[in-house]
Amino acid sequence: MTQPTPDLDARYQAARRVAQEAAQRGMAFYREREGLVVDHKGDDPQDVVSIADKSLEAFIRAELSGEFPEDGFIGEEEGSCDLDARCIWVIDPIDGTRCFVNGLHNWCVSIGLLVDGEPALGAIADPNHGELFQGRSGHGAFVNGKPLKVHTSQDVRDGVMGVGTTHRPGKENFIPFLQKLLDAGGMFFRNGSGALMTAYVAAGRLIGYYETRIYSWDCLAGLVMLREAGGVANDFFADNGLLDGNPLLVTCPGVYEQVAGMIGPSIK
Ligand code: IPD
Ligand code: CA
Ligand code: CA
Repeated sequence: MTQPTPDLDARYQAARRVAQEAAQRGMAFYREREGLVVDHKGDDPQDVVSIADKSLEAFIRAELSGEFPEDGFIGEEEGSCDLDARCIWVIDPIDGTRCFVNGLHNWCVSIGLLVDGEPALGAIADPNHGELFQGRSGHGAFVNGKPLKVHTSQDVRDGVMGVGTTHRPGKENFIPFLQKLLDAGGMFFRNGSGALMTAYVAAGRLIGYYETRIYSWDCLAGLVMLREAGGVANDFFADNGLLDGNPLLVTCPGVYEQVAGMIGPSIK
């Protein structure tokens, strides 16, 4: 039996509403962050989590699965379910947790949606800066209603490049890349939120963003916006990137080849 066509208008509206509501809930935790118990995840000394991350993901899943019970989920804190569904929500309840627990204002809620395996829409809510980024395939991308457009730069000298790394495999590529970027007259920026840096490339604030390895919940929503804003990305979903993560390179079209050349074969 053919499955009904998913209602993407309703899902786009829900992504924006739930991202904003979750961000406001996040602000309540953020204001009281001194009382949060912060646990470490896995082997990465910088990878932390608190009740704020878990509570926000539970809220987001409850809201979305209440409205769209047939949909699947991939989330940073609760993992994956119903991956054979046509619509799969890809969620990071707090992207920028290190910033969050240290009182740095660079964190956001990121909600993306895959439809039949393709990134279809996304919303990123940044409550500290009062910004809601949104994008839907074929319908444009916006921040607080203003259309997003990538930078016009043709050379890394003409703008600022976002960068990121973790203690995961791939970090050995980070310093060699920075050296080449600086040698070419470029400059780097890291704010601690991959979702926001991807959105900033879509917004033309950064000429690009390179992360040595990242997960789909960090970047899927931003990737929809990037494409709608005229940006270019590597094949992040190759080799099971959706579930296992991959290196990420997103740029304005004018600098993609130059930056990819500085990274070398680890970016595909
Ligand atoms: C992290 C942030 C960070 C990036 C890491 C991500 P989290 O997500 O996006 O900027 O460098 O790769 O894991 O842990 O704050 O959700
Ligand atoms: Ca994240
Ligand atoms: Ca997170």
